[in-house]
Amino acid sequence: MCGIVGYTGSKNCSSILFEGLSKLEYRGYDSAGITVIENSKAITIKAQGKLSNLKPELDKSGFTGTCGIGHTRWATHGKPSVENAHPHTSGRVTVVHNGIIENYVELKSHLISTGRIFSSETDTEIIAHLIDIGLSKGKTPLEAIAACTVSLKGTWALGILIDGYSDTLWAARNQSPLILGTSSGENFIASDIPAIMSLTNSVIFPEDNEIIEVSPDKISIFNEQLEEIRRTPQTILWNPVTAEKGGYKHFMLKEISEQPRALSDTIAGRITSEDLIYFDGIELPLNIKRVLIIACGTSYYAGLIGKYMIENTARIPVEVDFASEFRYRNPVLDANTLIISISQSGETADTLAAVKEARKSGAFTLSISNVINSQIPRVSSSSFYTHAGPEIGVASTKAFTCQLGALFMTAVHLGIKTGSLEQKEAIRLVGELRTIPSKMHSIIDQGAQIKVIARRYMSSTGFLYIARGLNYPIALEGALKLKEISYIHAEGYPAGEMKHGPIALIDENLPVVSIVPKNGYYQKVVSNLEEVRARGGKIIAIATRGDSEIADIATDLFQIPDTDPLLEPLLTVIPVQLLAYYISDFKGTDVDQPRNLAKSVTVE
Ligand code: G6P
Repeated sequence: MCGIVGYTGSKNCSSILFEGLSKLEYRGYDSAGITVIENSKAITIKAQGKLSNLKPELDKSGFTGTCGIGHTRWATHGKPSVENAHPHTSGRVTVVHNGIIENYVELKSHLISTGRIFSSETDTEIIAHLIDIGLSKGKTPLEAIAACTVSLKGTWALGILIDGYSDTLWAARNQSPLILGTSSGENFIASDIPAIMSLTNSVIFPEDNEIIEVSPDKISIFNEQLEEIRRTPQTILWNPVTAEKGGYKHFMLKEISEQPRALSDTIAGRITSEDLIYFDGIELPLNIKRVLIIACGTSYYAGLIGKYMIENTARIPVEVDFASEFRYRNPVLDANTLIISISQSGETADTLAAVKEARKSGAFTLSISNVINSQIPRVSSSSFYTHAGPEIGVASTKAFTCQLGALFMTAVHLGIKTGSLEQKEAIRLVGELRTIPSKMHSIIDQGAQIKVIARRYMSSTGFLYIARGLNYPIALEGALKLKEISYIHAEGYPAGEMKHGPIALIDENLPVVSIVPKNGYYQKVVSNLEEVRARGGKIIAIATRGDSEIADIATDLFQIPDTDPLLEPLLTVIPVQLLAYYISDFKGTDVDQPRNLAKSVTVE
């Protein structure tokens, strides 16, 4: 889950590398390092902890070189420390790595038996040794890298520098994300687009088992047999400003506030002026009898809502599975099963592996992803891209509501396709979808009310989130958001299940966040809330504007605009996002980079 970046050109590269790493810090932030070729020799600086800890080292370094690599780490093998921070050097070779080398123990003991000395506990360091051995046997850099990668098992995106080559760097990838950026007289490598998008929008996506040689004027891509491969750069339309905080205290708050725009961009181009869904370019199998949704984390909760949406409109049975469970449970699939994967990053290792498994068995896979050309869309039969723009905060917000928008449009499309949804009803639903961005705005405008509630409850040591129906996954998501960024324990529960356990927890110290809009479940949830009130519990209710009954029951109330029940989660999620955000900000935890987490989980 680490982030890598590399540059070669005519500029002093150290600040370019540092800036690039600052855009990749969401991928890991327990240590960082930069290597620059100075007078034909690699010089490395490293620091434990956040990237900001590397800044004083960088200022002292006096780097002037124009070719270098950088890394921000999320520890897998070896604790966070300066010794384990990348880049790692052996002899003439310096490497940065994102991924896991599964056979490193075996390779390392062999290397030690040949007299090689290691200075870190990482799996990465063996790569530097193996390439260095190849060079010392007279191989060219490309031959030495190819010989090394052939012996590796696992996943890697590599950036490589070799002493004696002052303007060339090398890269290689297998399953870990890597992009190549190209511009006039300078070229880049990076784990993700935001690292380089202020410098170029021309990007090449290398495939698995490819090796790349990068000089200021040329990017050459080779397969494992070192045959050159031609690949045309693609233009990325992301705007660099969307990857900046833009005056907000945190990316998370900015991204919560961007949801109306992000959703509008996701639905634009997918609905016609007659309010019909425009699914052109997205293929689906002809006779879908079953839908299986696979995802992780917040995307999994979007999947749970997708189940309600699709079953309602298309009357097709839907199952939702954690990708990490699905891939190992030998699922029953056939040609009439539509697999929908949901992944903001498009590179979550478990989701990627699950999609690959599904494809092996011949199933049709549709990916819903936010990152164009990321790995999951690339291995899927068809892709539906959301247009949330880059999401930097580790806790997903705008990507989630855009996933819900995409699932809603898929559900309406499937409803028409199966004949379960009348055109008139589809048009009404799509018309309602169009109103959601402005309703989101009106919720965000009242965010100060949530801030007051957050201050009142910030010292609570646990929270319960309850709801029914489509809002039950929002209870799960609200609890997840709070756990992730404030480190307060929280649990999401279906309101009707409270009496089978969690009601035992209720007392005056347990805030119960209940999502209770005026829909078919309303009276049932109100009854559950009465049970909470009778036991002295504090109720924070998220309810529909104008609901006076709930105002009498709730200790604290936040009101949202009315909408069709199928679209409610796109609105009810915003107050729970804001509640988690403000509680965490009041507590002073690291909102955008919470401890132990990373945004793209590219390890199993
Ligand atoms: C990590 C992130 C979550 C995200 C999950 C799935 O755990 O911290 O915010 O929901 O991965 O990521 P994906 O990119 O597949 O949606």
